Amino acid sequence: MSAPILATENLGVRYGSFVALQDVTLRIRENSVHSIIGPNGAGKTTLFHALTGRIAPSAGRISLGGQDITRTADHERVRLGLARSFQVTSLFPTLSVRENLRLAAQGKTPWQALAPWRRAEANRPALAMAEAMLERLDLARVALRAAGELSHGQQRRLEVGMAMAAAPKVILLDEPTSGMGIDDIAAMRALIRDLGRDHTVLFIEHNMGIVMNISDTVTVMRAGRVLVEGPPAQVRDDPEVRRAYLGNMITGDLTQAPTAKAPEAKAPEAKAPEAKAPEAKAPEA
Ligand SMILES: Nc1ncnc2c1ncn2[C@@H]1O[C@H](COP(=O)(O)OP(=O)(O)OP(=O)(O)O)[C@@H](O)[C@H]1O
Ligand SMILES: [Mg+2]
Repeated sequence: MSAPILATENLGVRYGSFVALQDVTLRIRENSVHSIIGPNGAGKTTLFHALTGRIAPSAGRISLGGQDITRTADHERVRLGLARSFQVTSLFPTLSVRENLRLAAQGKTPWQALAPWRRAEANRPALAMAEAMLERLDLARVALRAAGELSHGQQRRLEVGMAMAAAPKVILLDEPTSGMGIDDIAAMRALIRDLGRDHTVLFIEHNMGIVMNISDTVTVMRAGRVLVEGPPAQVRDDPEVRRAYLGNMITGDLTQAPTAKAPEAKAPEAKAPEAKAPEAKAPEA
C-alpha cells in the first residue's frame, strides 16, 4: 500500500483515569472513503478530536502526509490540510449560499473577505471554486438564498462543501446524516461518494446502508479499540461484527450492503430510525 495520507500509530486518549482510546492504529489511503463505525461510546468522536488536535493524545502518534502532527496545534493542522466539517452554527446564516462557499474557499472570516478595499479580481479563484461546489453539492438552485433559510439537509451539505472548498487533504465528517430524512440522506450519500473520487474522506456514520455502499474501507471500533477493519463486504461478514451487530451495536439496515444475504441480521434501530436509505440494491459506483 502506498504511504497513507493520514495515519495513527497506537493512539491513546484518556479522560482523567478513563481510557477512551487505546492502541488505535489507522491507515487512511489517499482518495478513499473510509468510515468509522461502532456503538455509542466506542471512541469514534474522541478519535476525531485527537486527529484534529482538540484533545491531546496520551499515547501514540498521528501523521498527515508523512509529517508528524501529534503535537501540532489544531489551527496549524487545518493549514496543513486536515478539515473538519463546520457545524451548522458556523455557517454565516444571513449570507447567501454562494457567499458562504466563497468565504470558505478564501479561508476568510466575513469581515476580512467583505472588506471594501479588497480588489474584486482577488476573489476570482474563490468564486470559481464556489461555483464548482454549488454544482457538486446540488445547491445551485439555492445559490442566492441565505444559508440560514436552507433546510437542515441542505445546511449539512453546505457545511461539507465549506470544508471542501478550502481544498483539504483529508476531510473528517462526524455523522453527516444525523437527523436527516430519507431524501437528504440519499443526497449526502451521493455527495460523499462523489467527493471520494478526488478527495480523502474519513467519516463516522451509524447508517449501515451508507457505510456499506460508499466506503472503500470500514473500521469498526468498540470500547476504544479497533475491532475489525477491511472492505465493506469483509467487515459485514465478520463474525465478531455480526455478533456485535446482533447485540445492537450498530444501527441501520445491514441488508443494504451490496450482496447482503442475511436479513435476520437486521438490528433494532436504537439510535437512528430515519436511517433506512431509500434503495436496497447495489451501489452505482
Ligand atoms: N470530555 C469527556 N470527559 C470524560 N469522558 C468522555 C468525554 N468525552 C467522551 N467521554 C467518554 O469517552 C467514551 C467515548 O466517547 P465518544 O464520544 O468518543 O464515543 P462515540 O463513539 O463518538 O459515541 P457516539 O456514537 O455516541 O457518538 C465514552 O464512554 C464517553 O462517555
Ligand atoms: Mg460520537
